[in-house]
Amino acid sequence: MFTKDIYVQRRKALCAQLQSGLLLFLGNKEAPYNYLDNTYRFRQDSSFLYFFGLDEANLAVTIDLETGAETLFGDDIGIDSIVWMGPKPSMREKADRVGIAHVRPMADLANTVKKAAASGRMVHYLPPYRYANKITLMDLLGIHPNEQKANASEAFIRAVVALRAVKQPEEVVELDKAANIGYMMHYTAMKMAKLGMLEQELVGVMEGIAVSNGTMPSFPIILSQNGETLHNHSHHQILTDGRLLLIDAGAETNSHYASDFTRTIPSGGKFTQQQKELYNLVLEATDHAISLCKPEVPFKEVYFAASRIITEGLKGMGIMKGNTDDAIANGAHAMFFPCGLGHNMGMDVHDMEDLGENFVGYDDTVTRSTQFGLKSLRMAKALKVGNVMTVEPGIYFIPALMDKWRAEKVNTDFLCFDEMDKFRSFGGIRIEECIIITQNGYRMLGSKRLPVTVEEIEGVMQE
Ligand code: GLY
Ligand code: MN
Repeated sequence: MFTKDIYVQRRKALCAQLQSGLLLFLGNKEAPYNYLDNTYRFRQDSSFLYFFGLDEANLAVTIDLETGAETLFGDDIGIDSIVWMGPKPSMREKADRVGIAHVRPMADLANTVKKAAASGRMVHYLPPYRYANKITLMDLLGIHPNEQKANASEAFIRAVVALRAVKQPEEVVELDKAANIGYMMHYTAMKMAKLGMLEQELVGVMEGIAVSNGTMPSFPIILSQNGETLHNHSHHQILTDGRLLLIDAGAETNSHYASDFTRTIPSGGKFTQQQKELYNLVLEATDHAISLCKPEVPFKEVYFAASRIITEGLKGMGIMKGNTDDAIANGAHAMFFPCGLGHNMGMDVHDMEDLGENFVGYDDTVTRSTQFGLKSLRMAKALKVGNVMTVEPGIYFIPALMDKWRAEKVNTDFLCFDEMDKFRSFGGIRIEECIIITQNGYRMLGSKRLPVTVEEIEGVMQE
């Protein structure tokens, strides 16, 4: 948790952007996974953490924009809870820690919200993503869960995004910590990987490092020799010679700031010539994309620059053909690079995705494409000092997509289907780094860069 002043300042900056009405913040509740008392690890809502820092279930806050009154809603715990779960600070103490003047029992929240709504005041809420909070909102405002996203306050969302997207120094300290934990996770996996091992053995070790140095991985670890599946969460294969192993993982610090790195390594410790060639192409795209990142540069341009390197390289290998710009304009490169280039990162690994990707990554200078591939670009607008981004180009050979496009004759002017077929069991390559945008350009997060060249990776794996 940061000092009280930080939270007070953040709320002041938030309220300065908004006109009138009542701001409603719902903290998260415990989430059961097979029965009520057997819960998932508690994770507070990130906006709640950002403005209040209180990392506990069953809290809500209202801020009255007219009077400035801030009220923390929640209940002091009774003896049963103390016996089973231990004592906790009182509600008054919690409010004092973050500079909130008023404390009320949770049962009073409905009254406060309903009174404001009944008198015609705007109740601003953020789009809920947890079912429990959707039910709470339905009880408070009578809005059906299916309608809640559309009725969320755009002004509130925009104000929160404007603040959270620009990381402050105390947040950058945390993000560097998260990156260093991510380094340990990946470096350890790279050193441990051995033929004959199960993928899940590496996952277990990486999760352990995340838990022992912070709270948990920042998202379910992706670790698979079928790296062509972008978010592959199955880890049941045996490390087999000649295959590539894609590892995409990061950690969340105790203050809930995230990291997110990807490395693709040869399962047996040595890249084949063909793997090396494609790997170096992805590395070139990564390094070039990162080198372009600086204030005022639209991230969409960085995506196109990476796409051009990938397309040129694949043309050189006889997998693509035709004019590079035309191929990209037609989305042909998305056969191999079907995702965006990266995303904002902060307390959420995909920062503020719950608030709506377009509020985070798009503005009135750039609208979201519907074209396959480009539509998955999460960040398109110009970079700003203090933005924290991942940069993660890749090349993937996805048999189902190859078959579909071949059958439907999609982008036949740019794709060499017969040549591509030779890569049906190749898998995928992704390299991912985390950067912060500075006045002059960027800085990579963390104390040092994970091994990334072919020589560095083979060196670590053969130590
Ligand atoms: N590293 C997982 C993702 O960015 O979606
Ligand atoms: Mn990522």
